[in-house]
Amino acid sequence: MRDRIVEYYQRKTDFIIEKYGVGNRVHFHMGYFAPPAPAVPVTLSEISLGMARAQDHLLRVAFGRWSEYSNLNGNILDVGCGLGGTSIWLAEQFGSAVTALTNIPTHFPIVAEFAESAGVGGRVRVQFGDAHTFVGGKYDVAVAIESSCYLDLDRWFGRLCELVRPGGHVLVEDVTFVGSSRRWKNSIDEYWKIDSAPVQDLLGAAVGHGFQLVDRVDITENVLPFVDWTIAWSRARSQASNSDARRLGISIREHRRFKDALLGNGVQAQLLAFQREQ
Ligand SMILES: C[S@@+](CC[C@H](N)C(=O)[O-])C[C@H]1O[C@@H](n2cnc3c(N)ncnc32)[C@H](O)[C@@H]1O
Repeated sequence: MRDRIVEYYQRKTDFIIEKYGVGNRVHFHMGYFAPPAPAVPVTLSEISLGMARAQDHLLRVAFGRWSEYSNLNGNILDVGCGLGGTSIWLAEQFGSAVTALTNIPTHFPIVAEFAESAGVGGRVRVQFGDAHTFVGGKYDVAVAIESSCYLDLDRWFGRLCELVRPGGHVLVEDVTFVGSSRRWKNSIDEYWKIDSAPVQDLLGAAVGHGFQLVDRVDITENVLPFVDWTIAWSRARSQASNSDARRLGISIREHRRFKDALLGNGVQAQLLAFQREQ
């Protein structure tokens, strides 16, 4: 399973940068739209720019809320940092000292280079490792933006209770599937190489390792329009070039399925904050 994730991300890196890469802060997560969502533009570059803005907006909403009670100026562990978008944003916004943890060898130099060129190389330290086994440091906050869905939640929280200081926080944005509904799980898991879990599993793993849920908000409606933007990008990209037609076709089909799951209450997008016991 792990090798599959590494292979998936190594193969997808150029594509992530092409699709979401505006400047040196590249996010690979959903975007947030406050209603009414704007109409999707036509050109590839306008769509990419709009998606990058919506991804930044998701961070503003999430960390705006979380900053009320967690120490975002302190030491932060960014679990599954992707290409470093969240780590760089946190260092820029809060002056945090961020450890950007990636399990993808080829992402390590990319994150370091993006952080350096964003002028926060001194505040973002890239670490290669696996979230289940990572040791090193004590953190005020551990952040996981759409990475918890890859993890064995019990093992991960077992690690977090060593890494997060008493009273510190674990802040999660992710998609969970609802109740016992497995209708969409197999195809979504297969396409994104994840192992999506019901939110109860996340809550249970956290509580089992001494973390209390302190905040939870459903953002499904706000991320829903983002799926239309990604579909529109793939459509515009296939019209612009014949290359990758098959991959883009599959992407469109799977994003439609994902949208159906969001609309049908099969999966939910949530912001979840946990606090470690004092
Ligand atoms: C959907 S991406 C999100 C990336 C980043 N958080 C962002 O929002 O741009 C999921 C991330 O989880 C990472 N990941 C998956 N399994 C992991 C593991 N076992 N240890 C560390 N990172 C992992 C992947 O490498 C990838 O960077």
